[in-house]
Amino acid sequence: MYTPNYSFRMSNNPQIDADKVIAAMSCEGCHINGQRWPLNDSMDFAQVQFKILVDQSMPLGMHLNPLDPGNNTGRVVEKLTPDERFALTNCLEAEFELEREKEKEWLTQEQCQN
Ligand code: HEC
Repeated sequence: MYTPNYSFRMSNNPQIDADKVIAAMSCEGCHINGQRWPLNDSMDFAQVQFKILVDQSMPLGMHLNPLDPGNNTGRVVEKLTPDERFALTNCLEAEFELEREKEKEWLTQEQCQN
């Protein structure tokens, strides 16, 4: 019987390729004005968690089902391990928090800075 898994935790001995996780954090490559809505404070972080951990559709192309375009292997292709997905979600959440704290500073600064 199918039992949905709503609970996510790191494995006991996580093997995480930090470079892969960092590269996967560049969601803004697609989520920019005009193409897709930016991922920012006005969205519920649960939506990000859902897309990465539950349906695994984000980052786009990192989980390919057998019938997805570009997958000719006949099986599911995972480019991120479950631990890497978990790490990615945690890193993005930390980044969200960091940006939330800086919002006032950004809105009140006199000149644009990088
Ligand atoms: C290569 C382009 C691409 C990248 C990179 C990408 N996305 Fe997306 N994203 C899309 C597309 C296309 C959709 C609409 C299709 C869908 O919902 O599955 C989408 C939809 C979403 C949605 C649903 C809301 C919406 O804007 O439609 C969320 C949330 C999301 N992505 C989160 C992320 C996160 C978090 C990352 C980084 C870890 C990420 N995405 C990286 C292309 C991308």
